[in-house]
Amino acid sequence: MGVEREAPLLAVAGDVIEERGLTNVRLVQGDATATGLPRAAFDLVHERLLLMITPAVGRVLAEMIALARGAHRPRRRGAAPSRNAGHSRPAAPPDPGVADDPTSRTP
Ligand SMILES: C[S@@+](CC[C@H](N)C(=O)[O-])C[C@H]1O[C@@H](n2cnc3c(N)ncnc32)[C@H](O)[C@@H]1O
Repeated sequence: MGVEREAPLLAVAGDVIEERGLTNVRLVQGDATATGLPRAAFDLVHERLLLMITPAVGRVLAEMIALARGAHRPRRRGAAPSRNAGHSRPAAPPDPGVADDPTSRTP
């Protein structure tokens, strides 16, 4: 699944997928800060060359964490690490832009 906000660049991605004969890739037009994709549904959430250009780093990271299976509930500050801590993903860094995002709060 690939997400791209701009239609012309989505078309370029579609051309690359077709040229390479990839049959297991889907593209959607959307905003990486609010993809509308199902929460906690993806084994791997990846970006390339987006965080370096977006002004919404915290919101993109919060969305990526929300999409990742089993990684959308950050550990409470000060809580002991879980036994599988070596396999956990870090929570998004503090960012005023995500202060009101429910995915950025600890339960
Ligand atoms: C430097 S390009 C990298 C494209 C591609 N990821 C790659 O590695 O070749 C950054 C891309 O991010 C897209 N983009 C920027 N902000 C975005 C957002 N909020 N949501 C989705 N796509 C975004 C741009 O339209 C652009 O296509």
